[in-house]
Amino acid sequence: MSGAIPDPAGCGVDTAIVPAGLAHAALLAALHEAAFPPTEAWSEAAMATLLASPGSLGFLALRPGAQAGAPDPAGFVLARVAADEAEILTIAVLPGARRKGHGRALLAAAAQGARAAGARRLFLEVATDNPAAAALYRQAGLVEVGRRRGYYDRSGAAPVDALILASDLGQGGLRADEPD
Ligand SMILES: CC(C)(COP(=O)(O)OP(=O)(O)OC[C@H]1O[C@@H](n2cnc3c(N)ncnc32)[C@H](O)[C@@H]1OP(=O)(O)O)[C@@H](O)C(=O)NCCC(=O)NCCS
Repeated sequence: MSGAIPDPAGCGVDTAIVPAGLAHAALLAALHEAAFPPTEAWSEAAMATLLASPGSLGFLALRPGAQAGAPDPAGFVLARVAADEAEILTIAVLPGARRKGHGRALLAAAAQGARAAGARRLFLEVATDNPAAAALYRQAGLVEVGRRRGYYDRSGAAPVDALILASDLGQGGLRADEPD
């Protein structure tokens, strides 16, 4: 596959990426709640379980200048590595911080972390009614490899399909965010 995820170092945005661990479970739950509809909330306990599970990877995006003072998180990503495959479990950027490159930097950090942990291929699922996320993933080079019909419940509306997207994580294959 020719698709590749950009290298966070080459993203060209002023996003500080730091690892997230168990101590951040409450923060990640709060960020998730702020970024997703209320029906999709993940509890602090659920975050802690994911962060404590084998192969889990978490990263926080901090807004520019945050390192010097109090941390000012803009979003986070959670992934899981099993053998040579990685999966993005969730990624979220606060509504007021979107379209500044944080999502791209988080995705790239997860890809780089997964590769460092031995993964050679990255997967994720995205709802067909989520054009922002789909655009982020496609811009990063992920391509559709499958579809789960009716995977996401939409209360009061018809269920929505999940697209399964994937990208290779070959050594040296991460593309910096260079102009076409
Ligand atoms: C999806 C999400 C994480 C993107 O985060 P973000 O920080 O806004 O993304 P970025 O600024 O890094 O965008 C990178 C690229 O993705 C694409 N993109 C992101 N949001 C987009 C939108 N609303 N419309 C069209 N393209 C979009 C663009 O190509 C963008 O590059 P550009 O700004 O140079 O045009 C964010 O919208 C979000 O948290 N959504 C709610 C939670 C969610 O749906 N998570 C994904 C579940 S699968």
